[in-house]
Amino acid sequence: MSVERVDMGGYTLIEHASLARLNTLRVDARANLLADIRDAAKLPELLDFPAVRQGRLLVLGEGSNVLFTGDFDGTVLLMSTRGVQVESDGDSARIAVAAGERWDDFVRWTLGQGYAGLENLILIPGTVGAAPIQNIGAYGCEVAEFIESVEAWDIRERRVVTLDHATCAFAYRDSLFKHQPGRYIVTAVRFVLPRSRPLRTDYAGIAEQLARMGVDKPAPFHVAEAVVHLRTSKLPDPAVIGNAGSFFKNPIIDAALADALQQAHPGLPAWPQPGGRCKISAAWMIEAAGFKGLREGDAGISNRHALVLVNHGSASGPQLWALAQRVMTGVHDRFGVQLEPEPVVIAAG
Ligand code: FAD
Ligand code: EPU
Repeated sequence: MSVERVDMGGYTLIEHASLARLNTLRVDARANLLADIRDAAKLPELLDFPAVRQGRLLVLGEGSNVLFTGDFDGTVLLMSTRGVQVESDGDSARIAVAAGERWDDFVRWTLGQGYAGLENLILIPGTVGAAPIQNIGAYGCEVAEFIESVEAWDIRERRVVTLDHATCAFAYRDSLFKHQPGRYIVTAVRFVLPRSRPLRTDYAGIAEQLARMGVDKPAPFHVAEAVVHLRTSKLPDPAVIGNAGSFFKNPIIDAALADALQQAHPGLPAWPQPGGRCKISAAWMIEAAGFKGLREGDAGISNRHALVLVNHGSASGPQLWALAQRVMTGVHDRFGVQLEPEPVVIAAG
């Protein structure tokens, strides 16, 4: 198949593009058209092409939270825009960041500039533009806490909109963007970061790691170093083995039900949530149900972390999805709890 590639100034169009290197599960899927966007101002022009306007549309950052179960018969918009702008600075700074910036580069830049807040979120793969979509979180922090507003192209209204924090409706691995898929193309995120704030060291493992590092008065960069250590010791690296991080969310259930489950299954970790709810550990249930380290062909569940679906080589999207469904059924049969996938599953068509 001949692949046509055209530079349009501000974006590049590629026909029949392979997505294999554009998703961290390394699934071999194709898109009819790939638009690599370097200038967000060109979006209206691109979206006006009849072939783009009439077909399916998918925005992609680094593809670290998607599972393709078939070819994408439409246009994939790859956000490659760059730019970090400090809009005001003092005890705290307002910083506007282009959607295509790498999240981890941005976190490291903020630490280098002496801003606090994002240290617990170091080493999360992906782009800045994707961070608000599922409200990325780790080690006791969520990005929502630092987002003042999100700038997006509203496909329905055909204009640039600024969505303030409240409108984004952030929750655990959730936001407005997940409930209105296909409506917004995030072009920039505006953060407010303080120069100093109390550090979060209460998540399991951080304090112990700081002690091992011999640090008794931690600064943000010490916490970042501890988190890097914990993440690299627990999670498989997508550069080594295809994966999308946690493939399932931790279920949030009624506290009374969590209590009953803990009685029946001693050792099940549970974390109280506001409003009489409780978050329970999906990894623990998956491991207890016997799926950790399981392999079906090249599709597997990591032997390092039970929440991580892995591609040992050439697993297809449907093979990975079949294994994920087997895990969901197995956990439901054993615990009566329905797991939900965290990544966006993108079906053929
Ligand atoms: P993609 O995978 O490209 O896209 C994800 C979704 O966002 C898709 O629906 C896509 O359409 C949409 N999207 C992307 N960019 C835009 C945009 N500009 N506008 C509109 N929609 C957009 N997540 C956590 O929360 N915490 C973790 O600790 C964590 N650890 C991970 C560890 C590993 C090893 C891996 C592989 C993933 C991990 N993840 C984690 C998941 C992932 O890193 C995040 O979800 C990340 O924000 C995805 O960024 P991305 O650019 O790759 O998004
Ligand atoms: N556990 C097991 N078996 C395992 C792994 C973990 O039983 O193989 C149990 C242990 O009891 C452990 C508990 O699960 O104490 C929690 O494990 P961990 O600290 O690794 O956290 P997690 O709940 O598995 C969540 C996020 C991660 C995030 C970490 C750290 C979700 C779905 N996942 O994982 O986010 O990095 O906490 O904060 O909320 C992601 O979203 O892709 C992701 C990696």
